[in-house]
Amino acid sequence: MLAIIDTDPGIDDAIAILFALRHPGIEVVALTTVAGNIGLPVTTDNAGRIAALAGVTVPVHPGAAAPLGREAKNEVRIHGADGLGGVTFPEAQEPPSKTGAVAAMSDLLMAAEPGVMDLFCLGPLTNIARLLTDAPESAERIGRVVAMGGAVDEPGNVAGNAEFNLGHDPEAAAAVLAAGLDLTLIPLDATRQFRADAVYLEQLRETGAAPAIATADLIDAYFEQTAHQAKGVESRPLHDPCVPLLALHPDLFHVETRGLQVDVSTGALIPGPTETSVAMGLDAKSLRDRLLGGLSS
Ligand code: RIB
Ligand code: CA
Repeated sequence: MLAIIDTDPGIDDAIAILFALRHPGIEVVALTTVAGNIGLPVTTDNAGRIAALAGVTVPVHPGAAAPLGREAKNEVRIHGADGLGGVTFPEAQEPPSKTGAVAAMSDLLMAAEPGVMDLFCLGPLTNIARLLTDAPESAERIGRVVAMGGAVDEPGNVAGNAEFNLGHDPEAAAAVLAAGLDLTLIPLDATRQFRADAVYLEQLRETGAAPAIATADLIDAYFEQTAHQAKGVESRPLHDPCVPLLALHPDLFHVETRGLQVDVSTGALIPGPTETSVAMGLDAKSLRDRLLGGLSS
């Protein structure tokens, strides 16, 4: 499958990207970056660093530096000032492209057969919303959109009972949800079930593979950064890796259809008219095995 990964790396974004870049079943044609966990210059530089560690050459196209019509709110408490929890990554092998994210997405969609280019969304949906307004003829050619975002029955993780990605840019989230795309949302209801503990970190390290070792270091940093939030909790959720994993192994997820809309005052998902595919459960053990295998192959 062909995919553009839209991302705000970000500790869990980095794990998802390392996995997707090296997986034989996914051809990542571009990384497009957005401000979210950290500012755009850092998310863009991190995208290049992650590709360098994966040993893969892939263009990085910078996108939105702020949400539609509001101030950016970073998550340095979780991802650290460098966005990667202080974990050492190599320098990017090449500078970011001079072509911006929306123009690159549009060009790639127009060059591909309609419906074959998927979007994997790991951050706020600002770039996707801009694509819908600025290049509607390209947006019509999008294949699947698999996005980590929202909280349906679970409580959110930011103010207003929202989840970070949708809460960071509620207007963009509302536009994308209502656009009639072939969208599957993976909310906190599912991603909080996909957890890594110390035993799993040991398994990652024992593979001796650089992407797996970096993933263990990233999750360790996640433990450090969030210790103040969840004392005594011996595992951390892996939100963004659920996106490429669902694209590859939909049978390992439980997907329901819910009538939803986005409360644009907070970004929270609330009952509404848009019938939306939402992953509400998953087979965590099998997915951890797939992630470990992909990061060490
Ligand atoms: O709520 C989790 C999401 O917010 C993930 O994408 C994480 O990277 C942060 O951006
Ligand atoms: Ca993210």
